Amino acid sequence: MPYAKIIGSGGYLPPRVVTNDELAAELATRQIETSDTWITERTGIRQRHIAETGVTTSQLATKAAQQALQDAGVSATELDLIIVATSTPDFIFPSVACMVQAQLGNHGAAAFDVQAVCSGFVYALSTADAFIRAGRARTALVIGAEVFSGILDWNDRSTCVLFGDGAGAVVLRASEEPGIIETDLSADGSQMKILHAAGNVVGGQVTGDPFLRMDGQAVFKLAVTSLAASAHAVCERAGISLEDIDWMVPHQANVRIINFLGRRLGLSDDKVVITVDHHANTSAASVPLALDAARRDGRIKQGDLVLMQGVGGGFTWGSVLARM
Ligand code: UT7
Repeated sequence: MPYAKIIGSGGYLPPRVVTNDELAAELATRQIETSDTWITERTGIRQRHIAETGVTTSQLATKAAQQALQDAGVSATELDLIIVATSTPDFIFPSVACMVQAQLGNHGAAAFDVQAVCSGFVYALSTADAFIRAGRARTALVIGAEVFSGILDWNDRSTCVLFGDGAGAVVLRASEEPGIIETDLSADGSQMKILHAAGNVVGGQVTGDPFLRMDGQAVFKLAVTSLAASAHAVCERAGISLEDIDWMVPHQANVRIINFLGRRLGLSDDKVVITVDHHANTSAASVPLALDAARRDGRIKQGDLVLMQGVGGGFTWGSVLARM
């Protein structure tokens, strides 16, 4: 049974950077009080990238995909599977994956979206791994992409300061050598209310509340416990000790969650990739963006053992353990 090996990665952030100070000044014009100090101390976020009005998830996804394909030395025509993780698709349908396929110039690959919010990339990567292991695909493109700025209530300071837009991508290829070693996915739908965007389209009209709502403290607590359990589960099934992990690439939501988790797992800070300061929480894009950043700056090298983790709305969480 072949392994799925990551052979390339890419990332794309829209050019417009909004610093905490700029955001605080903008919110102040509407009598909403926040500050760089509050945001930095509570989250580690210093800035976010925000897409211009009209820029869509498929456009960001395509740019990240092109970089990943170039990095892998793979042509779009070689892909036989395209999976996009997103909660902010361009349209109700077609899927973002089909739009990316068209923009890349691929014909015939299976293409579909995965919706697991901030765990989306880990869910999509695990799905692509299963396809490749089963011999149903040989070369896969997996993307996490979001324009989260479009579902934020910019009058709610408890959420709007936390998120940003972006896309990250990897190319996978069937290989005799590992590769993705083990994956672990979980969900608990009974916790849906702690993080949701409960809007709907009925009769052509948006009904309900289309903006993201979150009980931050409940998410914080569940994120730490579920990710710690998932890290132990995936390592145990792989017969690998947590000490053997070279790099942890966690969901980039909050540096306090990441540090807390790293300490609980006994991983030293220098083994943990952090990019949330630079691009805030980009939901499904955050893990592939962090992975790509650490591959490009030379931290993550060929042969390294990497633990990727996602957590978010649903409630969903999961891990992918991969040999690079
Ligand atoms: O992808 C997964 C999605 N989300 C997450 O992972 C988020 C998980 N949760 C968190 O990261 C944290 O809970 C937050 C960063 C969201 C909040 O941090 P916290 O330490 O839990 O703060 P809090 O919600 O307890 O709020 C503390 C205070 C409150 O004021 P009072 O009641 O103490 O007077 C808030 O109203 O901070 C206030 N506050 C703010 N103040 C300035 C909330 N948002 C802001 C803000 N600026 N932007």
